[in-house]
Amino acid sequence: MTKQTEMAVLQEMIVANEVCPELRRSATQLVMGAGSLDAKIVFIGEAPGKNEDEQGVPFVGVAGKFLNEMLTLAGMNRDEVYITNIVKYRPPNNRDPLPNEKQAFWPYLIRQLQIIDPLLVVTLGRHSMEYFLPGKSIGQIHGQPKRIQFGDKKIVIVPLYHPAAALYNGGMRQLLMDDFVSLPTILDAATRQ
Ligand code: URA
Repeated sequence: MTKQTEMAVLQEMIVANEVCPELRRSATQLVMGAGSLDAKIVFIGEAPGKNEDEQGVPFVGVAGKFLNEMLTLAGMNRDEVYITNIVKYRPPNNRDPLPNEKQAFWPYLIRQLQIIDPLLVVTLGRHSMEYFLPGKSIGQIHGQPKRIQFGDKKIVIVPLYHPAAALYNGGMRQLLMDDFVSLPTILDAATRQ
């Protein structure tokens, strides 16, 4: 099976298994992810917002534009990375995803990562970080690569601030941009490990 087929099957499973039926009813569509299935870096946000829900693509609103700018700053573009969210339906009124919603989607996120098999997983904000690095504080560890056991292999997690949180906060914005610029070096080190 190609990676494209595997991802399409996974998408069908989310619907067939009725993951978060209430969110599904209030959302326009499932926002699975976008980018290259051969990406070396996967970015994981929290959940689709209004624009993402309408277009079926993650990070296409204001936070997405900022994310695009930072990717450019780091010498990357959206086609060569993969971008997704932990929760794949828009929560009503853009509220934070609930713990049970994150829990329900977690196995599918894991499967998505197994299909793509990246070297680096970049979490955007605490909602996706807390599952990979439980009990950690983003203020203390943002930008620092952490090697974790993931199934039968090790992967590197880089926890970053969420672009929407950093957008209008001068200090955090600069920290996030600095962390982004260091991603190619972290990827390089992960490639040689
Ligand atoms: N914020 C997220 O976490 N994900 C999106 O897709 C858009 C905004």
